[in-house]
Amino acid sequence: MSDSPSLVVTRELVPTVMEALRARFEVDVFDGDRAISREDLLKRIQGADAALTLLTEKVDAEFFDAAGPQLRIVANHAVGFDNVDVPEATRRGVPVSNTPEVLTETTADLAWALLLAAARRIAEGDRFLRSRTPWIWGPQMMMGVDIHGKTLGVVGFGRIGQAVARRASGFGMKVIYSSSSGPRKVGGIDAEHREFEDLLREADFVSVNVALNDSTRHLFGEEQFRAMKPTAVLVNTARGPVVDEAALARALKAGEIFAAGIDVFEKEPEVHPELLECENAVIIPHLGSATIDTREAMGMLAAENLFAVFEGRRPPTLINPEVWKG
Ligand code: GLV
Repeated sequence: MSDSPSLVVTRELVPTVMEALRARFEVDVFDGDRAISREDLLKRIQGADAALTLLTEKVDAEFFDAAGPQLRIVANHAVGFDNVDVPEATRRGVPVSNTPEVLTETTADLAWALLLAAARRIAEGDRFLRSRTPWIWGPQMMMGVDIHGKTLGVVGFGRIGQAVARRASGFGMKVIYSSSSGPRKVGGIDAEHREFEDLLREADFVSVNVALNDSTRHLFGEEQFRAMKPTAVLVNTARGPVVDEAALARALKAGEIFAAGIDVFEKEPEVHPELLECENAVIIPHLGSATIDTREAMGMLAAENLFAVFEGRRPPTLINPEVWKG
């Protein structure tokens, strides 16, 4: 019997992180290449001292009931924590941490990859060549929309939204943003505040960078797509349910907007069948933070939060500081 505290890890993380965790905890890791089943999760979590969860797991009252009162921390391996019922954790005095900052620049890079790919029809061109369809250069072939000199609208001006905005200067773009906290000065970024509806009308590119909550669920629907320019491109690297996916597919098919670059889906891992049919949608499987460096940094930050609790230190990226009495 080991004296180390027990830790449930819901999916195998990169080797350096697993090694660091195993040095300090008795680790029980789900090693399947898919999300752990609810049943398995509720079984493994029983009696655990700590949990390292992913965005694929619901951490709610049932989870805490199954775990038991000895659970000292839930370290969520993501910056977003809409999968965690934080008020419930707080009510039970359980600290919850996330992994902010370490993935900001990587996710902003991916938003730009999607923006560029959607505007210039990169995925479509790749599919076209692989289909082995005969072709010859043509003056009207696969025309996209220009990026340089256009207007980027960032919806949600937190860390990732600002990092997306910062990259626009290399393309000589004007940047506008909307934010639930209103206008604000952000050092090093030349950006003008707009109300959300005005941003939709004015932007050539709209990047979604809000957290998912009750006020952002289906922020984008039929009305918003109709308000956008027919040449506009939507990029979503935030959370799927911020966009009504069926309405997006309809808007793409009807030419209400030009294209979309989508990393996150309303009912992940499902993709709306009509979106799958849209040639003008670049769709990728939630890869925002998926680089070798960043996945290591996220894992290490989650581990730091776990270590802190068992050393009596305040976890560095605690979401519910009101539980910390140490
Ligand atoms: C990924 O989507 C995250 O929230 O880290």
